[in-house]
Amino acid sequence: MHDIAVIAGDGIGPEVVREGLKVLDAAAEVYGFRAKCEPMPYGAEHFLKTGETFPDSALRAAHDFDAVFLGAIGDPRVETGMLERAIISGLRFGLDLYVNLRPVRLYDARFCPLKDRGPEHLDFVVVRENTEDAYAGLGGILKKGTPNEVAVQEMIFTRAGCERVIRYAYDLCRRRGKHNRLTLVDKANAIRAQDIWTRTFAEVGLEYDDIRQDHAYVDAACMWMVKNPEWFDVIVTTNLFGDIITDLGAQLVGGMGIAASGNIHPGRVSMFEPIHGSAPKYAGKNTANPLAAICAVGMMLDHLGEEAAARGVEEAVRRLLTSGRVTSLSAGALPTSVLGDMAAAEVRAGAGTKPPAPRATAGKPGRGGPRKRAAAR
Ligand SMILES: NC(=O)c1ccc[n+]([C@@H]2O[C@H](COP(=O)([O-])OP(=O)(O)OC[C@H]3O[C@@H](n4cnc5c(N)ncnc54)[C@H](O)[C@@H]3O)[C@@H](O)[C@H]2O)c1
Repeated sequence: MHDIAVIAGDGIGPEVVREGLKVLDAAAEVYGFRAKCEPMPYGAEHFLKTGETFPDSALRAAHDFDAVFLGAIGDPRVETGMLERAIISGLRFGLDLYVNLRPVRLYDARFCPLKDRGPEHLDFVVVRENTEDAYAGLGGILKKGTPNEVAVQEMIFTRAGCERVIRYAYDLCRRRGKHNRLTLVDKANAIRAQDIWTRTFAEVGLEYDDIRQDHAYVDAACMWMVKNPEWFDVIVTTNLFGDIITDLGAQLVGGMGIAASGNIHPGRVSMFEPIHGSAPKYAGKNTANPLAAICAVGMMLDHLGEEAAARGVEEAVRRLLTSGRVTSLSAGALPTSVLGDMAAAEVRAGAGTKPPAPRATAGKPGRGGPRKRAAAR
């Protein structure tokens, strides 16, 4: 039995989560596991009703689950970023989810805005550091609203923080076995503090002589992602740059409606979510694309040790998107609930078909099976 906390959140969050859970149910039926989902109420409605953002008790409770499935947080009625920091950063920092894993995978050439590019050109994974950098919260505003106003936000990089995520990326690259090429993306030429990334990347790399070390400054990386995306295998990068380049990555494979992520601490409770936000303009309209949330469910299953189910969900999405029945991944192409039904039906239809070869996307370095609860404490 897998215990899953579900935070549907704001805007389109509840709609896409509902479809993700449909697919989770279908996968449980087909692959023979059980999942108990417990809703957590946090988000704008809860805040406006109670004044509570994300209390310590919620974080303590989160430790007792096997995984957290999150929709999206953010509401125009609430101060910018306040709920996002409390809930999303609260979980990422509070559970020490130091890996943000973001696959960039094109399922069908029709969804790619690049000329003459297909699935063989766009299949890489971004490993984004998830607990440091400008997101660590060291900063603030002095003399706000006066002519002498000063705003400071520090980028924090620790040796231990760099090393653990870089090691995860090397391990993932080895398990993927694709090009055995790991690219460090930084801006160490201009942001000299990022020299810590350069040195750590080289030093950890000494333990991985089968993995080719590659490097790109973040501006050039954006250029290469458009010009020669097939070059990339696994990218490891800082929190801020990972945040930005994966929106570009999402657009290259069809848009925000298909891009999923895992916030992972190997062997411990981890959180899975679409990379998109609450897209308030589509809230309640049944037009948002739920496939990103559905792919996040696939990544969650992989983390939970349900590898066959994870591959089943991924293959279901692939079959759906190559079938010609989905013409666009943008909002409104098909109703949210219809796309969710189609994905769940594909998972069921995949039952009994030959399972595809395992692929390491949401890998678990050093992990021998499903997360054990004791390990989370
Ligand atoms: N992890 C999170 O919960 C998260 C991430 C990013 C932004 N946010 C928050 O979400 C709110 C809105 O932010 P934003 O507008 O910058 O980003 P957003 O990702 O919510 O939306 C940007 C655009 O992407 C498209 N889009 C997003 N999700 C889609 C889907 N499922 N299907 C089809 N199209 C989709 C829409 O065109 C949308 O206007 C803000 O409050 C922001 O802080 C939350």
